[in-house]
Amino acid sequence: MSTTRGLEGIVATTSSVSSIIESVLTYQGYDIDDLADNASFEEVIYLLWNGRLPNSTELSQFTQELADHAEVPKEIIDQMKAYPIDKVHPMAALRSAISSLALFDEQADVMEEEANRLKAVKIQAQIPTIVTAFSRIRDGLEPVGPRSDLGFAANFLYMLTGNEPDEIAVNAFNKALVLHADHELNASTFTARVCVATLSDVYSGITAAIGALKGPLHGGANEAVMKMLMEIEDVENVEPYIRKALDNKEKIMGFGHRVYKDGDPRAKHLKEMSKRLTEITGETKWYEMSTKINEMVTGEKGLLPNVDFYSASVYHSLGIKHDLFTPIFAVSRASGWLAHILEQYSNNRLIRPRAEYVGPGKQTYIPIEQR
Ligand code: ACO
Repeated sequence: MSTTRGLEGIVATTSSVSSIIESVLTYQGYDIDDLADNASFEEVIYLLWNGRLPNSTELSQFTQELADHAEVPKEIIDQMKAYPIDKVHPMAALRSAISSLALFDEQADVMEEEANRLKAVKIQAQIPTIVTAFSRIRDGLEPVGPRSDLGFAANFLYMLTGNEPDEIAVNAFNKALVLHADHELNASTFTARVCVATLSDVYSGITAAIGALKGPLHGGANEAVMKMLMEIEDVENVEPYIRKALDNKEKIMGFGHRVYKDGDPRAKHLKEMSKRLTEITGETKWYEMSTKINEMVTGEKGLLPNVDFYSASVYHSLGIKHDLFTPIFAVSRASGWLAHILEQYSNNRLIRPRAEYVGPGKQTYIPIEQR
């Protein structure tokens, strides 16, 4: 048996949800450059789940369906109030709350196609409600319920702040959601597929995926990028900070990618958004620091920014708390996870690879008193 560390380059399944071919990312055949500039996040969810874009009647029905399921059971809100909120990271809170959601869904273990599709709608609709409710609870505020007259992006920002967001914020947030929606067989999506391939339920698949996304080598990198920017503080500190990190062979968060070696096609959109939004807020230093880090890391290591690098200054400019960056990634990526879960169920086979054994040779059991 031969092994490939980290399964690099291994093709583990077929999928029609999204593709990365020669550094071009498509969702069901649509280039994300096209979708980022034109599509609403609701359209993208529909596309990922149905394999085609909706017409206007289908889109309004689907949007209504999401709105109808956006409230979370009161018990989930009460549970979140009981979490040790000053110590809990919102990703851990989200992971627990999604797992708990299953307890309040009588259809959680019903495996018929229609029941699983309805669970997908509920999870997609309720993830934003959970993330924003937890954020408000820990700030000592009451959660703000979803509004059915607002689109997905606007509703998230509304539930977070209690105020209706302006058009610039809504458009920027919508674009960020579109860009993060799916990404082929990334670590969290693979986790979700492995989980449901045992014929476990949709909630378990999403809970497992959230656990995988949480790590700093995956979705957790966007928060880590902002931490780095806060530590650097000013453009003039970039050079010594990055120099020291590179000399110490530290990883610079938001750079590098397992699949893209010519650059992540999502990064350019987020870079442009970062420039625009920091100009609007008057805090251009975040963009300037980011571009300077980019120049140094690319110049010296040949590493290019990934989706997480410029999204940090984008979310910061939208006034979002830094530890909500990764939960927001989950709000968007849930659409991709759910598409992959439904696809896995439709043509399932248990995912069970092998390990090359490198442990000790044959041992003989020694009674404990003789050891
Ligand atoms: N900073 C410095 N060096 C890096 C970085 C980085 N961000 N990324 C890779 N390298 C170096 C490694 O140290 C390694 O060098 P070596 O061969 O001298 O040991 C080489 O490049 C290859 O890196 P690996 O870690 O083996 O690459 P892998 O494909 O396993 O990892 C990953 C990809 C996890 C994204 C990596 O680039 C990384 O850790 N980046 C920082 C974290 C990050 O931004 N994660 C988000 C990725 S996008 C997403 O998941 C949403």
